[in-house]
Amino acid sequence: MNAIVVVDQNWAIGREGGLLFSLPADMRRFRSLTLGGTVILGRKTLDTFPGGRPLPQRRNIVITRDPSFARAGAETVSSLQAALDLTAGEDPDKLWVIGGGSVYTALLSRCRRAYLTKVDAAAPEADTFFPNLDKLPAWQLEAASEPVTENGFTYRFLDYVNTAL
Ligand SMILES: NC(=O)c1ccc[n+]([C@@H]2O[C@H](COP(=O)([O-])OP(=O)(O)OC[C@H]3O[C@@H](n4cnc5c(N)ncnc54)[C@H](OP(=O)(O)O)[C@@H]3O)[C@@H](O)[C@H]2O)c1
Repeated sequence: MNAIVVVDQNWAIGREGGLLFSLPADMRRFRSLTLGGTVILGRKTLDTFPGGRPLPQRRNIVITRDPSFARAGAETVSSLQAALDLTAGEDPDKLWVIGGGSVYTALLSRCRRAYLTKVDAAAPEADTFFPNLDKLPAWQLEAASEPVTENGFTYRFLDYVNTAL
């Protein structure tokens, strides 16, 4: 499986339950990479989507400890292991960990690649973070795009690979 995430220069990913940046070209890339695949996400991230609805044209697996949780169009599991069990037969290249912070941290060691959008800015008052891959020896930067500028922010697509897998 792969992780896909937008981070700021300090590896921040969120603030007060929401995203730090609005980057339409990045969203289009996210959509095209994940379309037709399976996304694994925490319940709080699902609640950030418009109407709290799962992502269309993808299998959505939502992790929650709430046994009564149900959302049309999403499958619910009560543990990380249950999410892994449900997706055991799937093509790992089409299996995406899409957040948020708790789920990235918990599943990172299972990810073969991490597709980062790294924004050259420090978001103020961020409260949720992605692990700093530059400090994890198993993770190597494999490719970096040219910079893209959008909505006043400059960012690059950075592809990391987990050499431990
Ligand atoms: N920059 C990006 O690319 C990106 C992507 C996604 C999200 N985000 C941001 O990340 C933030 C949300 O991250 P977060 O860490 O607060 O929340 P999260 O990971 O999205 O969701 C946390 C919830 O998932 C469930 N959960 C997590 N681990 C579990 C486990 N082991 N077993 C059972 N249930 C489990 C729990 O749901 P219940 O409370 O229902 O039990 C928990 O409260 C937001 O600010 C969001 O905008 C950023």
